[in-house]
Amino acid sequence: MNLKEKIEELKAEINSSKLKGEEVLETFRIKFLGSKNILKGLYQELKSVPNEQKKDFGQLINSLKNLAEEKFEEGKKLNADKNQMGQSKIDHSRPAEKVELGARHPLAVIRNEIIEIFGRIGFSVSEGPEIEDDWHNFSALNFPPEHPARDMQDTFFIEKGEKEMALRTHTSSVQVRVMENEKPPIRTISPGRVYRNEAISARAHCFFHQVEGLYIDKNVSFADLKQTLLYFAQEMFGGSAEIRLRPSYFPFTEPSAEVDVSCTICKSEGCNVCKYTGWLEILGCGMVDPNVLESANIDPKVYSGFAFGMGVERIAQLKYRVGDLRLYSENDVRFLNQFKSAY
Ligand code: PHE
Repeated sequence: MNLKEKIEELKAEINSSKLKGEEVLETFRIKFLGSKNILKGLYQELKSVPNEQKKDFGQLINSLKNLAEEKFEEGKKLNADKNQMGQSKIDHSRPAEKVELGARHPLAVIRNEIIEIFGRIGFSVSEGPEIEDDWHNFSALNFPPEHPARDMQDTFFIEKGEKEMALRTHTSSVQVRVMENEKPPIRTISPGRVYRNEAISARAHCFFHQVEGLYIDKNVSFADLKQTLLYFAQEMFGGSAEIRLRPSYFPFTEPSAEVDVSCTICKSEGCNVCKYTGWLEILGCGMVDPNVLESANIDPKVYSGFAFGMGVERIAQLKYRVGDLRLYSENDVRFLNQFKSAY
């Protein structure tokens, strides 16, 4: 093989080299650019080339050397890019992190459901302060001063400036505010947190949630109350739910009743939740006492009304069968995650 052919062959070899990987690149470097590289041999051979051809061959070998250098630089770059991908802190193949969706608190779910059920028959939502004065929590609701009925609701009294205030013991206080500010017809429910001074246990807590309702218009009767509560029970617990009313006492209603719903768990067959009675107590209610209407400057000769109040925890207990009240305020995600499918 003469010199020209050798040059052509090496040129082809350089051009077709694929310099992927550190080892391949190093082999290439040693062969074409190392201290004992193959091109050096060509310069040796140049000595035996006729003088008039030396210049041309010299140039050919030089350009071969340049070609090898270019190719080597190219290969270095290629491998460097590859390494960078490999060593990068970002692992592009890693699965994406899961985005955890939150869930509504079960009490919020039930409260919203109650609001929706009464909203469908025209009840609006009213809210009021949790720190109340005596008038709105007691006096306007026909609790006479020093009357033992005030002891029914173990009140947290607090001092606020000169005035003695209380944490509201029920959201009936909100309804007094509504009656003071609006003219009948009034049709409203007041959801909210209430406080009572009780030792915390599975069955009692120092705070809980209520939804109380008030309806005042001309000719509102006890039958209206009963039908409204039956509608509520069937919307909340299913079309086959029944209710029964037992006489009771509240200072602000006359007559008053406590309402039971047929046990949704055993279908009234008898179980330990309904204590084998087939009935579960869900709320208190009654016709608004004329004294209460008068306190709010509503004429009891023209208007009548009914009121009712229920505990949200109690309804949640019956719907979700969560008996221990403490679970609702402990923020244990193992408990809360169970309500993820609820809205
Ligand atoms: N306010 C009463 C309670 O907190 C519930 C209730 C409301 C009863 C309206 C009758 C009428 O226990």
